[in-house]
Amino acid sequence: MMMRQTGVFASSANLTVMCNAAFKAARGLIRDFGEVENLQVSRKGPGDFVSSADKKAEQVIYKELKKARSNNGFLMEESEEEKSDSGFRFIIDPLDGTTNFLHGIPHFAISIALEKNGEVIAGVIFDPIKDEMFIAEKGFGAYCNDRRIRVSGRKDITQTLLATGIPFAMHSKKEMETFQRSINVMMPKVAGIRRFGAASLDLAYVAAGRYDAYWESALQPWDVAAGLLIVKEAGGYVTDLQGGDKVLEKGTILASNSKLHGGLLKELKPLYAKE
Ligand code: IPD
Ligand code: CA
Ligand code: CA
Repeated sequence: MMMRQTGVFASSANLTVMCNAAFKAARGLIRDFGEVENLQVSRKGPGDFVSSADKKAEQVIYKELKKARSNNGFLMEESEEEKSDSGFRFIIDPLDGTTNFLHGIPHFAISIALEKNGEVIAGVIFDPIKDEMFIAEKGFGAYCNDRRIRVSGRKDITQTLLATGIPFAMHSKKEMETFQRSINVMMPKVAGIRRFGAASLDLAYVAAGRYDAYWESALQPWDVAAGLLIVKEAGGYVTDLQGGDKVLEKGTILASNSKLHGGLLKELKPLYAKE
């Protein structure tokens, strides 16, 4: 393993390139996050400013990655997909947790995954405010900065802390009702449920053993591509909410330690059967 800036270990050329792109974009995001506070009180609010910060970050990441891996394809939240027949594709969310960012809440991240022939083989999630870089490469474990991370060992559901995402205005009535049913089922069983507002960090926190599990639906590939590998490499289980491996296609996810996954899936699967 080779040493990277801020104590991050990057085990491969791919991870080094991906971490560098995230670090570079983060510098702009941090500057812009400082500005958001000032705009909060303005009449227009920070909306347009944030959407341009988001796009700027995406361009910085794109340029860095393109320079190093010009043949790869790109799937990015803010741009048209760039296809490639190389078999390699980057999946990028330049700012995950936009609503937090917009409201001056310091919980957001940059998420970059690398796919080879449809399988995620490397992932990085960088939280620039807490200076936490979560990385994984297939077969080499998961790390937060220079520390190896593992999912939690908890098996007693009554002691678990779960994370989820709450649907909002742009979601369908059906998605909202399904979510409400899932909360009704999980709430009485667990020690707590959190909605922190950045899917990538929800997954990173499962990988680090902070949350015991995380579920959500109506997601996009860039929300979860890096995180799903990081959880798996931390020893966790990740499936869609039907128990299959079509997380990126279906946009539903259940990630947890191996002891809890079966029991949680049994509760959630019937609720999301028609999603
Ligand atoms: C959102 C966040 C949020 C999740 C939403 C996503 P964005 O991504 O990950 O936690 O609940 O479904 O769209 O818009 O902040 O990149
Ligand atoms: Ca996102
Ligand atoms: Ca985003």
